[in-house]
Amino acid sequence: MIRTVPTGPIAGQRPGTSGLRKKVPIFQASHYVENFVQSIFDAVKLPAGATLVVGGDGRFFNRECVQTVLKMAAANGIGRVILGQGGIMSTPAVSNMIRSRRAAGGIILSASHNPGGPEGDFGIKYNVGNGGPAPEKVTEAIFERSEAITAFRIWDGADLDIDSVGETRLGGMVVEIVDPVADYAALMQTLFDFDRIRALFASGFSMRYDAMSAVTGPYAKAILEGTLGAARGTVVNGMPLPDFGGNHPDPNLKYARSLFELAMSREAPDLCAASDGDGDRNLIIGRGLFVTPSDSLALLAANAHLAPGYAQGLAGIARSMPTSGAADRVAARHGIRLYETPTGWKFFGNLLDAGLATLCGEESAGTGSNHVREKDGLWAVLLWLNILAVRRQGVAEIVRAHWAEYGRTFYARHDYEEIDADGAAAMIGALRARLPDLKGQRFGVSEVEAADDFAYHDPVDGSYSEHQGLRLIFSGGSRLVYRLSGTGTAGATLRVYLERFEPDPARHDEETGAVLGELAALSRSLAEIERFTGRKQPSVVT
Ligand code: G1P
Ligand code: ZN
Repeated sequence: MIRTVPTGPIAGQRPGTSGLRKKVPIFQASHYVENFVQSIFDAVKLPAGATLVVGGDGRFFNRECVQTVLKMAAANGIGRVILGQGGIMSTPAVSNMIRSRRAAGGIILSASHNPGGPEGDFGIKYNVGNGGPAPEKVTEAIFERSEAITAFRIWDGADLDIDSVGETRLGGMVVEIVDPVADYAALMQTLFDFDRIRALFASGFSMRYDAMSAVTGPYAKAILEGTLGAARGTVVNGMPLPDFGGNHPDPNLKYARSLFELAMSREAPDLCAASDGDGDRNLIIGRGLFVTPSDSLALLAANAHLAPGYAQGLAGIARSMPTSGAADRVAARHGIRLYETPTGWKFFGNLLDAGLATLCGEESAGTGSNHVREKDGLWAVLLWLNILAVRRQGVAEIVRAHWAEYGRTFYARHDYEEIDADGAAAMIGALRARLPDLKGQRFGVSEVEAADDFAYHDPVDGSYSEHQGLRLIFSGGSRLVYRLSGTGTAGATLRVYLERFEPDPARHDEETGAVLGELAALSRSLAEIERFTGRKQPSVVT
């Protein structure tokens, strides 16, 4: 039976860079999930009988939230829900499922790389029919609806068994429970040369893949150990846990510390890799060498033709503005277009749909291609494996050769987490106001050649997005970028992105911290970070 339940707006249900993301207790509050999910259904107005894909990263509250979403879908005229078994499906796998099954959209339950558990984070994200995150006009419509909501509709009945593969019904709606891995694994097989990767592993190539007790465990075990013949035990932390084993499922040098230490040790395998909570990010570390995501994008772009799915070459490369310029030089050398977009994967969707870009990447460990409309952690690992299998060189060797050919961009991101939101906004405001004066000023050996507040004109739909980060470009190829995070759940997070281009191979082995030291000091003094935020140093450097 369908029930209509009166309700009223709950403040703050505005989806951010990647959906609505809050602490678990907020989601557990009365009508919180129901209001937001109803706002989605009201705003996107799916045709009666539409198909919806639903999956989550398995974090705390995933299972309860799946039940609510199913019951509300049944009460809102959805014809079929395709649900990952146990409520689990990685973000790129949801994207693929929406596309391959021609679903109208999908609901992803995840807070990505944020910690989980009863006091951790949770999130709900809506993806549209191309498989990608809802564009801003859709998320705005959802938010507006949430501010005017008066009732939600829900199927009144017992919880559904979500653990058995097969079809069941909820009222008039079919619930199709699927193995979340199978279709995704099949897609990977169409893109990469699995025989060559199998031969690579058979030749003794060693790898450690850390699934961080998050969603990619089952995918990595099936593909790497199952199909490609990687040694058993290659995948560690391969069981998705509601609290990610108490860890932060963010594959960076801070939270994947043990993997990093292994890669730097004498026992290092040929490749260390990891993915995040919902499986869209990636970390790549060769023996003794961490590959920055910005470099990884450039390297993958330069070598993608070695994989069957990209043998025809790339239509173009897209990177988010704060991502380093390393990929730009690959694009220039190959004579293809480079698109610079605001932070957030949703800005790549139009470029991919229009066939303007083939590979996309962000400095925040996100890389992907036109195979889905999300970034894809395991895909990036498989593309690396395909390249290694063809070139038969080590990761570090390939990276150094790349730097020698294209020059090296030293890169770091400084995060000032959980700072006071007003102070952060005041700091950005003050710096924005000074941008015109900064142009032409000299700091040490370099001069500010350009200073602006990044704005983006989407070449496909003409939409315009402004205030996407403050950029200072210095002579000699250095750059500073300041922006506030759109995904945090407590206070504000200031991100400062630093880069310096170094063409001279004799200097490519210098230490990043040392190379960027002067720029880092300048980043703090220029924006008066301490005065506005009370912080002398960033809380995380990646
Ligand atoms: C962060 C990353 C951004 C990424 C987003 C979602 O957003 O910086 O590149 O697209 O997470 O994974 P931010 O917190 O910086 O707004
Ligand atoms: Zn993620």
